[in-house]
Amino acid sequence: MKDRRSFLKEVCPTVAFAFFGISFLEACSSDTTDDLTPNPGGGGNTGGGTSQDNGFTFSNNTYTIDLAHSNFSQLSQEGGWMNAQSLGIPLLFLRVSNNDINAYTNKCPHQGVQTAWTYQSDLNQFKCQASEGGHDNTYSDDGKTPGEGGVLVDYVTSLSEDGKTLTVNL
Ligand code: FES
Repeated sequence: MKDRRSFLKEVCPTVAFAFFGISFLEACSSDTTDDLTPNPGGGGNTGGGTSQDNGFTFSNNTYTIDLAHSNFSQLSQEGGWMNAQSLGIPLLFLRVSNNDINAYTNKCPHQGVQTAWTYQSDLNQFKCQASEGGHDNTYSDDGKTPGEGGVLVDYVTSLSEDGKTLTVNL
């Protein structure tokens, strides 16, 4: 016969799950940066949150990106930019200088469309194109000047000394 403590230890999780189901489990999880964590449905990242094969890892709310990886070749030249949504990363990247790459949310401040972006280098702004499902609103790349719905939030980034690794802190 089991003692009371052992019995409760074994039975309680089962009973709790039966009563509260999924919501009980969700209540135990953290959701602080859910919008910005790798999205397996977004593309090649099917590894459950990180993908070294795709040139990046995600850990402790930090993306570490291998700029030598072909997935990030658009960022090799100043002015190069990319929407990393297809890799499962919900961020826009823009190389603003030899030793600085900016990272912004790719969630449009207007209505949240993530896949309609283009960059207008002559105006230093991103545009959420109507032809791709947006509404042609524009957002400054300074991360401060608001467009329709707010600013395009940017995140703290740093480049390694050899310029091969970019880190983005969410
Ligand atoms: S959702 Fe981007 S402009 Fe409307």
